[in-house]
Amino acid sequence: MKEIRIAIIGTGMISHRHMTIWSKIPGTKIVAACDIDEKKLKLWGEMYGFDEKDLYIDFREMLKRDDIDAIDVCVHNNLHTPVSVAVMRAGFHCYCEKPMAASYIDSKILYDAQKKYGVKLAVQISSIFNLQTRYAKKLVDEGKLGKLYHARSVGHRREGRPGLDMPDFSRDFISKEVGGHGPLTDLGIYHIAQMLYIMGMPELETIYGMSSADYFIDSRLLKDGMEYGVEDLSVGLAKLKNGVSLDIYEDWAMHIDDVGPSFIAGSHGGIKLIDVDTWGGELSLQEDGTVVGADSAPTPTLEFFGYEDGVMISKVIDCGVNGAKESLMNPAIFPFNDNQAHWTAYLRGDLTDETRIDTPFIALETALLSDGIFLSQKLNRSVTRDEICSMSESMAIRSQKTPWGVIDYDF
Ligand SMILES: NC(=O)c1ccc[n+]([C@@H]2O[C@H](COP(=O)([O-])OP(=O)(O)OC[C@H]3O[C@@H](n4cnc5c(N)ncnc54)[C@H](O)[C@@H]3O)[C@@H](O)[C@H]2O)c1
Repeated sequence: MKEIRIAIIGTGMISHRHMTIWSKIPGTKIVAACDIDEKKLKLWGEMYGFDEKDLYIDFREMLKRDDIDAIDVCVHNNLHTPVSVAVMRAGFHCYCEKPMAASYIDSKILYDAQKKYGVKLAVQISSIFNLQTRYAKKLVDEGKLGKLYHARSVGHRREGRPGLDMPDFSRDFISKEVGGHGPLTDLGIYHIAQMLYIMGMPELETIYGMSSADYFIDSRLLKDGMEYGVEDLSVGLAKLKNGVSLDIYEDWAMHIDDVGPSFIAGSHGGIKLIDVDTWGGELSLQEDGTVVGADSAPTPTLEFFGYEDGVMISKVIDCGVNGAKESLMNPAIFPFNDNQAHWTAYLRGDLTDETRIDTPFIALETALLSDGIFLSQKLNRSVTRDEICSMSESMAIRSQKTPWGVIDYDF
């Protein structure tokens, strides 16, 4: 098996989770890493046993190497397009963290770059690769739900604004300049993408939406002139071209215990998606060695409601148990269990453009809905697919100040 040599850009929280997963994918080797923060990079290098010569503070230097096949981009949202386009322009395959970008237009630039530079792109959307999604899609594809007519995409936290009342997380999550948006482009994109994928990627027709940031902020949490610059709630109602209505609800903080799960309803059956897995496999390792999220990562469950022999039924599908059995019986399923395994199988040619799950396309269609909610609020009316495509505004960073100088991006 030919080794795939990978380098990482951004050695923050999510890079640790990626590293744990890379260590479990045969035939992949992480050979270099980059972060603008030299101290953080050094610690990271020590943790994983990297030579100093393989650690870079300027990714442009790292891209001059000719012994790297692909780059794993783990910087924050408004840097996804600038950094990933630079990576692809330099001829490397690219794996980009979610969200593809904070706006539709930035996502489209990233999407187009894969063809323009003739390389392979994937976007991290762990909710597409979890077992709940696989079994839900099977039920829909087999027609068990009949004609679909309504879906709900939901995410809720009692109080969990990353970087604010979840202090382990990067403050960039709540920075408009770097993070771009709040819960909708954070966890929301996992939920919307999951809904679209299960339903066979129906196109958006129109969408109406609103966002707000009204959950109180204890000013003691705002340290060193920090500002809360993004939303804490986004809601939307989309009309899809397959005739399905999709309502979207995503918050990071709300004074309410429960807002119910995502679901899809059809003429003959419905499915409820409980505890959607947005962790994507192994959990992130902190600099001090603690694993974040290990206790809270739930086992996703699927519930089916319908009729059997004229009798109304409800069934619970334990995705974890079934998935473990499926993996034993069919090892070929391995690349469909995880984003990173999927991308490397695609790079190796084990998966083709026809057989792979096209995460850049799913992420781009998802960005249409999230950006549509923001555009709708701006125009105070519902907006069409074409309007979002033509009116979406770039939020990507064009000039980045770093501790050692400025990086100008061209995309
Ligand atoms: N933290 C999570 O649990 C989580 C989960 C899923 C996805 N994500 C996504 O991963 C991305 C990163 O999130 P994070 O939590 O790891 O953030 P983070 O702030 O911990 O890490 C980002 C790192 O990128 C570095 N960086 C910034 N610009 C750079 C550049 N030009 N070159 C090299 N390095 C640069 C920063 O110094 C920082 O160390 C975000 O897009 C986020 O949405 C995070």
